[in-house]
Amino acid sequence: MRALTIERFGDTPRLRKLPVPEPGPGQVQVTVEAAALNPLDTAIASGALERLGEYRFPLTLGMDGAGTVTAVGDDVSRFRVGDRVVGQFWSRPLQFGTFAEVCVVQEEPALGALTTVPAGMPSEVAAALPTAGMTALGAIEHARVPEGGTLLVLGATGGVGTFAVQAAAARGIRTLATASAQHAEQVRELGAAEILVRGARPLDEAVRRLAPDGLDAVLDLVGDRSLTSGLAGAVKDGGTLLSTAFGLDDQLMADARVRAARYTLDRKPERLGDLVGLAAAGGIRPVIGTTLTLDDAPRALAGEPRTARLRGKTVLHIG
Ligand SMILES: NC(=O)c1ccc[n+]([C@@H]2O[C@H](COP(=O)([O-])OP(=O)(O)OC[C@H]3O[C@@H](n4cnc5c(N)ncnc54)[C@H](OP(=O)(O)O)[C@@H]3O)[C@@H](O)[C@H]2O)c1
Repeated sequence: MRALTIERFGDTPRLRKLPVPEPGPGQVQVTVEAAALNPLDTAIASGALERLGEYRFPLTLGMDGAGTVTAVGDDVSRFRVGDRVVGQFWSRPLQFGTFAEVCVVQEEPALGALTTVPAGMPSEVAAALPTAGMTALGAIEHARVPEGGTLLVLGATGGVGTFAVQAAAARGIRTLATASAQHAEQVRELGAAEILVRGARPLDEAVRRLAPDGLDAVLDLVGDRSLTSGLAGAVKDGGTLLSTAFGLDDQLMADARVRAARYTLDRKPERLGDLVGLAAAGGIRPVIGTTLTLDDAPRALAGEPRTARLRGKTVLHIG
């Protein structure tokens, strides 16, 4: 089978032929139909997440995917051959990711989550959901913005952002979102009340005009500390600055006037179930900006090809 692998941290990922991995006890083998990229894939490849646990090489990259169970190991009770599954395929040790024709994963992934794909949901749609969708739902919950309150999403056009805008709007939150001018209308269609066009005018000035009583929360998905620090004054007393991207400096973290916190994806199995159910019911949808094949995956991981479309998720069609 073909897989996008690295031999060591820092390697340039490349496609290789590998033996089909067989499931051990408690594991399922999945023939992958679609996989989705996340910034965390390049972080894994670089070794920046080495502390996550034991890695084995060659390491197949990719944590989000959807496909069909083609074999099960001993003691597997949740899934059977023929089930369609979706999730974050993060097992311990880390070795078999989703950028491959076949992968194996623990039925209860040690670092991720796995569930069945609802009938009728295409694999590309399912694969686009897990990491970004779960992170968005979790972050919106942690931001604690009341119904009718005002939230600013920095990085609204990306994987997490396109879900976060939808999740916030569904909760009745007035959402301000940053986007480039060419994508403003699409982000508005996702539920943003106001678009702050990147580079158009100083962001803090624009925010103060649109939210004169202050923001209840900022959700940072960009990781630019000067940007978040510059916006802190526009947050109400007791309001929240939440970052998934290490976008809060020490001074902001220590500021007693606001609640500044990092958000790391938590309660994965429960969030995956909620997310997939919500998507099946039409309550949230992934924005798939780019669809590629496994052959394109090395270039896609390197950040190409970018299209003029809204970024959203990049999905690999594999099966
Ligand atoms: N802690 C966790 O558990 C967790 C989980 C998931 C993700 N994350 C992190 O959360 C962040 C967002 O993830 P993602 O999947 O949404 O990434 P993504 O799809 O790459 O989206 C990044 C977003 O940031 C925007 N952006 C990039 N550079 C910018 C700049 N200089 N100024 C303003 N906006 C800029 C992009 O806008 P354009 O589209 O216009 O370029 C896009 O909206 C990443 O850092 C990721 O590693 C953390």
